[in-house]
Amino acid sequence: MSKSGHNFMQTLFRPFRSSKDENHEQELEQIAAQEQKQFSFATLVSATKDFHPDHKLGQGGFGPVFKGKLEDGREIAVKKLLHSSGQGKKEFTNEAKLLARVQHRNVVNLLGYCAHGPEKLLVYEYVANESLDKHLFKSGRRDALDWKRRYDIITGVARGLLYLHEGSPSVITHRDIKAGNILLDDKWVPKIADFGMARLFPEDETHVNTRVAGTNGYMAPEYVMHGRLSPKADVYSFGVVILELISGQKNSSFIPILDAENLLEWAYDLYKKGKSLEVMDPALASSAVPDQVAMCLQIGLLCTQSDPQYRPTMDRVVLLLSKKPGTLVEEPRRPGYPGSRYRRSRRPTTSIDSGNFDSDMFGSTINSDDHSATATTSSSRRTSRQLGSRGKLPMQG
Ligand SMILES: Nc1ncnc2c1ncn2[C@@H]1O[C@H](COP(=O)(O)OP(=O)(O)OP(=O)(O)O)[C@@H](O)[C@H]1O
Ligand SMILES: [Mg+2]
Repeated sequence: MSKSGHNFMQTLFRPFRSSKDENHEQELEQIAAQEQKQFSFATLVSATKDFHPDHKLGQGGFGPVFKGKLEDGREIAVKKLLHSSGQGKKEFTNEAKLLARVQHRNVVNLLGYCAHGPEKLLVYEYVANESLDKHLFKSGRRDALDWKRRYDIITGVARGLLYLHEGSPSVITHRDIKAGNILLDDKWVPKIADFGMARLFPEDETHVNTRVAGTNGYMAPEYVMHGRLSPKADVYSFGVVILELISGQKNSSFIPILDAENLLEWAYDLYKKGKSLEVMDPALASSAVPDQVAMCLQIGLLCTQSDPQYRPTMDRVVLLLSKKPGTLVEEPRRPGYPGSRYRRSRRPTTSIDSGNFDSDMFGSTINSDDHSATATTSSSRRTSRQLGSRGKLPMQG
């Protein structure tokens, strides 16, 4: 037990208490709460002016987010989780405590949490420049993102994701990497938001419910089709983000060009024809470093390959990004996306792969004419899943 915890117990068992003792006790409780990163509900009510609509930053699939200010002046973002979370108070508290230990320059800092009656809240540091999608997909704001900034975002997110996968106190698969979950601070340093949702809202194999996981346009095909979540599903989503940063186009609202149904196919076809730079956002014309752009495109395509076994781990992605442009020899295979046709991988599952997939899943054929796609594999407990509102994927049992 910590020293403060020990004193706290002594104080608790003292038979008579003076007001001086009580003050002392309150102080100790505060210290204990700080150690556990627990916020009282009253503190968050006061910081957000009782969750006033004017303080609302937005509404995600897990609930609304409010801006707040603590008494010590720190700005915070408070996420009020929807009550539909299946987790009990104890499980929530345990997971939140663990997630609050996750610390990295490229990951949003979870300052703490609050469990108050049915309410469950997460308290994050406030990140000043909002989310990447708000800059990248709005024509008036895109110019602020020159190539250097975009390149720094790619490398920063890669490092943050590598940390989540391999360096943090526990292995964390994000499950919802997308431009909207990359926040930018006042110096444009990218910070991955909403990590740990896969732990706080675990997949439930037995209950149909309204929980959400993943966003349309970013989800790896094996995850959509079979619910197979692994770090390689994050690598796929990260690859989509790279291609969006290079092209300035949002994969989920891509207007088909010729035979290319989506951003990934379009980028791949141009890459194969040796015309990588045609993928580039015209807004980058004056700031781009062409070799760097071409290398990032190749890495993005490696990440979005259909077969997760062929996708690099984040460890490898970070290494590839550090290479001299023009020296990358890995050739990406055709990208996959929900509704595309898989080929069974002939390569056996290797130990260097952290994907942990059984190769059986690639025995399934998805009818490319039918986007409700029916998996024919016998190993899958799930069939295809329909996307709900907000492009989110409702969970199924
Ligand atoms: N720590 C933070 N600092 C500043 N703004 C934040 C922070 N966290 C979230 N936001 C803002 O709050 C809004 C809502 O975030 P939220 O994560 O709930 O929704 P989302 O990212 O659109 O969807 P999802 O549920 O898939 O994450 C976003 O626009 C985001 O920019
Ligand atoms: Mg979010």
